[in-house]
Amino acid sequence: MSPAPSPANSRAREAFAAAFGHAPDGVAFAPGRVNLIGDHVDYNDGLVLPMPLALGTAVAWRRSDGPDFTARAADYHGEAYRFDPSAPPPAGDGWHSLVHGMAALMREVAALDGGLDLLIAGNLPRGAGLSSSASLCIAVGRAILAASQTAPLAAQPLAQVAQAVEHRFAGVACGIMDQMAIAAGTPGAAMLLDCRSLAWQEVTLPPEWSVLVLQSGVERELVDGAYNTRRQECESAARKLGVASLRDVNPAGFDPAPLGPAEARRARHVVFEIDRTRRAAAAIAAGDIALLGTLLREAHASMRDLFEASHPEVDRQVAMINDWIGAEGGARMTGGGFGGAIVAILPAPRADSLARELTAQGYAEAMRVFN
Ligand code: GLA
Repeated sequence: MSPAPSPANSRAREAFAAAFGHAPDGVAFAPGRVNLIGDHVDYNDGLVLPMPLALGTAVAWRRSDGPDFTARAADYHGEAYRFDPSAPPPAGDGWHSLVHGMAALMREVAALDGGLDLLIAGNLPRGAGLSSSASLCIAVGRAILAASQTAPLAAQPLAQVAQAVEHRFAGVACGIMDQMAIAAGTPGAAMLLDCRSLAWQEVTLPPEWSVLVLQSGVERELVDGAYNTRRQECESAARKLGVASLRDVNPAGFDPAPLGPAEARRARHVVFEIDRTRRAAAAIAAGDIALLGTLLREAHASMRDLFEASHPEVDRQVAMINDWIGAEGGARMTGGGFGGAIVAILPAPRADSLARELTAQGYAEAMRVFN
């Protein structure tokens, strides 16, 4: 059964009619995602455990005459961006570059005759580590596919086009986790994704657990530069260890001797985080919330101390939430880091009181993404 349409779809449809003066031909949607565990391992060929969200990006579309696209974003006061998809996209991680970049690269996989009017409306918080940019790219890709009436594209090539947009136009050397989770996943179902083979399997959480996403309120800054530097450190560590990627290092045999101090910390994070992700998927399958909680805490400490991609305020909030949860479950910062969102997994009957407690203390409203 397909999930109910997102409220973002009706917003996009209505805003399209208001902006362009007629109804759209269709609306495409792509969710955001939260990563339960396994951060900064996707570009090291590792294992990740993301879960698509019900929130995401809707793109209302209608075919137009001529080659040009006109895109408007409801969240930016309907500002219009008109472009020829065969012209080079502007550089940068703003929505213009992502939408134009997607339209340019989709030309290689979808034969669209003419242009498109697009209206973008989303309900994902931006800069919160919930993948609003991959969500935008995949939604635009789906709109182009629907408009071009080409045979549906499988999740993997669509995800790879969206990743190429980030690399070539946004300047972010990201991995493939976000795009694969968004293109292939089902909201509310976690997926264990092997970022080397791109094979994945659904991991069903016990219905008596809840997954909450909490906004730390710490805005991420200078993220792209720091992200790309981390990736370079990991690749350099792999070369010095004589492996194709850090995925190939067995945690039991990890010997950081050839590495500089920073590289050694980054590599240790990646090697053990991949192992934790594998163990977390097993803990979920076994219904062992205490073990899962321990792994979430270890993962947070590793992002903080070894990968150095956390933030003191987020560390404080994660520690407070972990104290509140106790042994049955746990919390960690999720996504690229340097601020953003916190994910917490705990017994469902306690989730409401945690959410209430945090709101009473002045934190943003918690989002229940599972149960
Ligand atoms: C960002 C990137 C992903 C991944 C995460 C960290 O979301 O887009 O590819 O590297 O950070 O796990």
